[in-house]
Amino acid sequence: MNNANKADVLLGLQWGDEGKGKIVDVLTPHYKMVARFQGGPNAGHTLVFEGKKYILHTIPSGIFHKGCWNVVGNGVVLDPFIINKELDQLNIPLEELKSSLFVCGKAHLILPSHRLLDAAFENKKGNYKIGSTLKGIGPAYTDKVARTGLRLMDTATDNFMDKYESLKSEHLRLAEGLDYAIDELLLDGLSFPEYEKAWFAGLERLKELPRVQSEVFVNEALDKGARVLAEGAQGTLLDIDFGSYPYVTSSNTITAGACIGLGLAPARIGEVFGVFKAYCTRVGGGPFPTEVHGGDGERLREHGQEYGSTTGRPRRCGWLDLPALKYAVMINGVTRLIMTKADVLNTMEKIKVCIAYNVDGETRDSMPLTGNLESMEPVYKELNGWNRSLDEINTFEELPQELLDYVAVIEDFVKVPVDIISTGADRKQILIRKGAGILQRLSVV
Ligand code: GDP
Ligand code: IMO
Ligand code: MG
Repeated sequence: MNNANKADVLLGLQWGDEGKGKIVDVLTPHYKMVARFQGGPNAGHTLVFEGKKYILHTIPSGIFHKGCWNVVGNGVVLDPFIINKELDQLNIPLEELKSSLFVCGKAHLILPSHRLLDAAFENKKGNYKIGSTLKGIGPAYTDKVARTGLRLMDTATDNFMDKYESLKSEHLRLAEGLDYAIDELLLDGLSFPEYEKAWFAGLERLKELPRVQSEVFVNEALDKGARVLAEGAQGTLLDIDFGSYPYVTSSNTITAGACIGLGLAPARIGEVFGVFKAYCTRVGGGPFPTEVHGGDGERLREHGQEYGSTTGRPRRCGWLDLPALKYAVMINGVTRLIMTKADVLNTMEKIKVCIAYNVDGETRDSMPLTGNLESMEPVYKELNGWNRSLDEINTFEELPQELLDYVAVIEDFVKVPVDIISTGADRKQILIRKGAGILQRLSVV
């Protein structure tokens, strides 16, 4: 297939936090443009290089590479307060940002009162909390679909403040109806009025960034031969349509989301890079068939430092779930797999991998789409661990045989090659398989 003039997509195949940010940062030198297509500050993408760690929430993970155009697409929801804090962290002069960070005017704004509503809805759910990051994502996308939302481009219209006040008062009324008092709320340590003030200050800064229409910007760049990487947030199993609803986020996190969230025609999608951890994690509520409580689950959390990049919450941990991975590969049309955090399994004597489930007395090797997911019993294959550090390994082929066997089991199950393995948080800790298809795509052979 000729993939010239097509955008590649990189996204998560599990419940988020697969290490997408790190991989985008590693691949960016091969691209002219990195474009986020959905989600918002619920995302936390971690980049580590030169001894420093950065966590990006809205800004694409190509931002540290000079000359790369970073685009925040129409499908993203923006919180000016949070973007402002991210810009402070980046410490990149405005003049430089003017040629490296572009925001789509169609992107919807997360109002402070969307965050209030997020808290109010979660509060009301009692034992059935989604475990939202409380960044206002659900309410902002709700207003978008209800056609009552405010877009970045609307800030330039004369009646923006009227619209803002009117939407805010509706939100306040709704929160009151949910018995949620606004004075209970602290948003990133600030009271509602303090947050609102800082939000408007952030909006002024956001207005200084170059504004684009992502569909035009991205398609024209492709027409001119620029290489584009679309960066996903969250993960496939958190997708609003295909995830474990209602324990999901409010956007389409899958490949099709890149079409909607950037204005790309389906035929303009090239390679799809699916990122997955060598095990599984989930933060927040919802089914997680291979979750391990205590024991190995604790070890995975400690070795993998599995605490949320956005909220600091401990992540739930468990073994790799192959039927779920295969489902994610299917939904996204994944062409290359990238496995992260292999090093976290370094000290495991035995590694388990889920190859089927027992559901209602039946064994099946595909994800059940209905029924009680909570009652699924995973069926595991047990493999020997490699019991050694991966630090001194410089090529994919030198990896311990036990790890290569693990990779073979995964590839055999999902029928897509694992081209890259990440062995640490740093940008340099990356191994690309000799002769892997991804090398041709990146034109580095
Ligand atoms: P994202 O949301 O998919 O970008 O992932 P996060 O940044 O939320 O979570 C991934 C975490 O694992 C971050 O702390 C990364 O620095 C770290 N990380 C990424 N790749 C690796 C890896 O191969 N090994 C280890 N030990 N840590 C990694
Ligand atoms: P990145 O891009 C992991 C989870 C939340 C919650 C559910 C809904 O860093 O991988 P929301 O705030 O969207 O209303 O939360 O989705 N969630 C994530 N989990 N990584 C993320 O993003 C997530 N973004 C949302 O924990 O269970
Ligand atoms: Mg994350």
